[in-house]
Amino acid sequence: MYGNIIFQFNMIDPVTTQKIHDAAKVVEVVEDFITLKKRGANFLGLCPFHNEKTPSFTVSPAKGIFKCFGCGESGNSVGFVMKHEKISYPEALKYIAKKYNIEVVEKERTPEEIIQQKERESLFIVSEYAKNFFQKSLHNTDEGKTIALSYFRERGFRDDIIKKFELGWSPKKRDAISEAGVKAGYKSQFFEKVGLVIYKQETNYRFDRFAGRVMFPIHSLAGKVIGFGGRTLVTDKKIAKYLNSPESEIYHKSNILYGIYQAKSDIVKKDKCIMVEGYTDVISMHQNGVENVVASSGTSLTQNQIQLVKRFTKNLTIIYDGDSAGIKASLRGIDLVLAEEMIVRVVPLPDGEDPDSFSRKLGSSELEKYISEHEIDFIKFKTDLLLEDVAGDPVKRAQLVTNIVGSISVIPSTILRAEYIKETSKILDVKEETLYSEIRKILSNRVVYKNKQQEHNKHKVNTPPVPDVSSNIFSEPYERLVLYFLLNHGEKDLFHDDETGINQTVAQYIISELKNDNLEFKNLLYSKIFSEYDYCIENQLETPDINYFLNHKNPQISSLTANIVAPDTELSKIWKKRGATVEMPDDRLHESVPEVVVRFKFKILELMIEEVDKEIMNLKPENYDSLKELLDKKMMLDNHKILMTKEVGERVMI
Ligand code: CTP
Ligand code: MN
Repeated sequence: MYGNIIFQFNMIDPVTTQKIHDAAKVVEVVEDFITLKKRGANFLGLCPFHNEKTPSFTVSPAKGIFKCFGCGESGNSVGFVMKHEKISYPEALKYIAKKYNIEVVEKERTPEEIIQQKERESLFIVSEYAKNFFQKSLHNTDEGKTIALSYFRERGFRDDIIKKFELGWSPKKRDAISEAGVKAGYKSQFFEKVGLVIYKQETNYRFDRFAGRVMFPIHSLAGKVIGFGGRTLVTDKKIAKYLNSPESEIYHKSNILYGIYQAKSDIVKKDKCIMVEGYTDVISMHQNGVENVVASSGTSLTQNQIQLVKRFTKNLTIIYDGDSAGIKASLRGIDLVLAEEMIVRVVPLPDGEDPDSFSRKLGSSELEKYISEHEIDFIKFKTDLLLEDVAGDPVKRAQLVTNIVGSISVIPSTILRAEYIKETSKILDVKEETLYSEIRKILSNRVVYKNKQQEHNKHKVNTPPVPDVSSNIFSEPYERLVLYFLLNHGEKDLFHDDETGINQTVAQYIISELKNDNLEFKNLLYSKIFSEYDYCIENQLETPDINYFLNHKNPQISSLTANIVAPDTELSKIWKKRGATVEMPDDRLHESVPEVVVRFKFKILELMIEEVDKEIMNLKPENYDSLKELLDKKMMLDNHKILMTKEVGERVMI
């Protein structure tokens, strides 16, 4: 039945695939997820794919299939696992293979791949071990029971919820897990790699990162523990309330949402995902019957996180604390979620409440009701909020229109856009045509840009342009970041041009990308280095390597080079800031070099926007004539920013 095509896709050989299909008993597979009752030759249960009170979900063991007579969903065992768990075909095959102890031989892997795979597995294993260790410490030790369990109970967490989220306690003893882990036969290096244990070389001493904290395991979409959040129980301003696992090979903060594993089936069922800020918000809401809830665990929502939600639903509802700082912050960049065709709503909470406190106050049935009654569409929410500040000020009012129109313009659906325009026209008392013409302007800008992009894309990765930069705009740290790559890797080959057969070096690429936009380094010393590269490129000389600059006749340049070629913590910080998950990547240059250029440009763009904002703010009444011009400029820059953000690969939202 399944030919070679599938073999190519899933890398599980056809014989094994067939074996898995043959072994899967549909009733057994389905029963792992939902309760079934026998009805004649078939089995019946509540459909997991839509909301129903009387069962219409039927499983036929004879035919090996399921079908829901309510929503029409149907398929075989593998299809069920794929749909229910939202996983791919090969992943579902592997799931069933595991259930029936069928060995899956995947395509041959290189020795490096095998080592890497083994290492990842080891990291999962020690994380799982640690989770169990923390749970045992919570439930079975005196310290855990008196300190941590009583803390959870005081907060009102029920036992079933503590179990469901696998909460735990990391003992106060500074090396509890280090010691127990090694005793249990695990290599200490794996605990260090996932950040559970910190090794101090100077003292040759290992200690537990989370000692004395209650533990919130963070699960992957498939339910594996990949990281932890730990909350201290002491109230000392100097101690961070929460500590989180550092980035590791298995934990990438910007790719995961806390609670997604526990929430995913309810998100699908309700066709809605609720987003809150913290661990305890998620847990309290679950306890009060709202299970389609996840947390961004911190302050910024990334593009990967948005796409994670989008796999399950297009409806995103954000619940915010009552304080207005939180709400204002939430407006930043949210347009980029709209651009993903998500429908975003906001539920503001009363002053002084967070989702945790508020859900405890309301209790189960009230909470869901409150959310659905107080949900406000994001654009309306934003308009109303900004209107509060306008109060008859014509400058601010014009700014507001620009701002809202910008938000609407990124919505891909024309129907949805029309709805918003109608609504906004009413709220702001601006003619619909006026709004349409503003939007057309933005959109046509974008098309021109896109066409240009496609032409360029043939041979190498072109980064989006930034508009002409005024002379006083620059960011020294970002210039330094680019310089780091230039000096360390300048002479290496980066892209191959098929037409000319010529390789482009890292320096040639960076310099041409920057020069295309009339960007140069503003730091004088950096700019000298820039010019030398530029000179070599212009005159088709060989790209100089690091030794050339290390031994440069200008002592300032040689000492700067020596200084900059070692990645320092400041540079790594900049690199990691926008969600990049690795240390300064000195390999995979074809990915990291374009990324560095984009980040550099993005920073410049942000600074330009700041500058225009300042200009608008400081505009004197007698100069209102230039307001329109400034607003157009801002709109153009915002537009650039949205495009650029797609390239940066992360969207800062909250
Ligand atoms: N957070 C963090 N590090 C901190 C503070 C907060 O990572 N030092 C993250 C955590 O994910 C936390 C969320 O931000 O859950 C919200 O912070 P906050 O509102 O201060 O914490 P709560 O979740 O309300 O926790 P609690 O009720 O236990 O104080
Ligand atoms: Mn709280």
